[in-house]
Amino acid sequence: AAPLRLGVAGLGTVGGGVIAILQRHAGLIAARTGRPLEVVAVSARDRRRDRGVDLSGYDWMDDPVALARRDDIDVFIELMGGADGPAKAAVEAALATGKDVVTANKAMLAIHGQSLAGAAEDAGCVLRFEAAVAGGIPVIKSLTEALAGNAVTRVMGVMNGTCNYILTRMEEAGLPYDTVFAEAQALGYLEADPTLDVGGIDAAHKLALLAAIGFGTRVNFDAVEIEGIERISIDDIRQAADMGFRIKLLGVARMTGRGLEQRMAPCLVPADSPLGQLPGATNMVVLEGDAVGQIVLRGAGAGAGPTASAVMSDVIEIARGLRLPTFGQPAATLIDAVPARAAAP
Ligand code: NDP
Ligand code: HSE
Repeated sequence: AAPLRLGVAGLGTVGGGVIAILQRHAGLIAARTGRPLEVVAVSARDRRRDRGVDLSGYDWMDDPVALARRDDIDVFIELMGGADGPAKAAVEAALATGKDVVTANKAMLAIHGQSLAGAAEDAGCVLRFEAAVAGGIPVIKSLTEALAGNAVTRVMGVMNGTCNYILTRMEEAGLPYDTVFAEAQALGYLEADPTLDVGGIDAAHKLALLAAIGFGTRVNFDAVEIEGIERISIDDIRQAADMGFRIKLLGVARMTGRGLEQRMAPCLVPADSPLGQLPGATNMVVLEGDAVGQIVLRGAGAGAGPTASAVMSDVIEIARGLRLPTFGQPAATLIDAVPARAAAP
């Protein structure tokens, strides 16, 4: 079969991880999809930077939008980040020129997901984003596919690896915030703008995306009530521990009689509960459906390998000929939900 031709824009933590998987598992993936995956061209800012992977066989392009427009690629993989700017321009260019798109960019989708999903459908293209929520955990495929026969009643969980890493390390190692923040940065967990992580905004982006899929509603990030972890001190963590609790940045989305409630905030959870025991950059997402009950997904929520694994799941889905709607149903059928304020904690 003809190769599926890829263009990869962004060669940082995630992009580098994707190239590494494509090179390491070329034979295995071709056997599973029935066709080889071929990287045609790549793009990043600094051509001279050593990325730990061999890029010599690919065309280098300084301009990601020009890469997205190339007529010799089938799938454009956007791994630059940023809600607007070159990421959005390149994704729009890819869709406008008939390419399928895979992205890990939750900031872009939380704000522009509705219009981009519509643009993809109008162009007959696929736009998929498994890596955007909870890193390596297949939470989007679980919601859109495995739970497709359920009315979803609640989506909740820990969805930011950086915050979980910081809170866990501060408690377990007794280390100050600045030290554990630097560790998380070195491990590739942080967003380019780390205030998105510690401010709870990145996790709120993810919650808004899951709520849209789960409840069939238009993405409404502005309606998420958000509180980050910046004001959590080592004393707060110790006091919680003395009472048998841990502090976790927890998100909940549920449909109430008053409308859709979406809330992301630090919460006390029992230290010996599964949530309380969640280590490092691990994420845990609980999906609740009327038929299935609760299912719990747990795994690495950030970092090169886990996130690239999720990106590859979308690319392989496209290589297999699966053409699923971005939010699990046509964008035009998503409804506006009345935002409901959460009950006081
Ligand atoms: P990095 O900062 O490590 O990499 C970003 C890449 O994009 C770099 O290669 C950079 O080039 C390139 N880039 C940035 N701006 C431009 C631009 N204006 N023009 C061309 N290239 C540009 O980010 P990550 O890999 O961590 O994240 C990528 C995406 O994946 C983001 O949307 C992020 O939210 C998402 N994500 C990240 C996860 C993680 O664990 N890191 C997990 C889940 C999602 P250069 O290298 O030359 O500077
Ligand atoms: N910065 C994000 C996190 C990356 O720490 O969870 C994964 O989306």
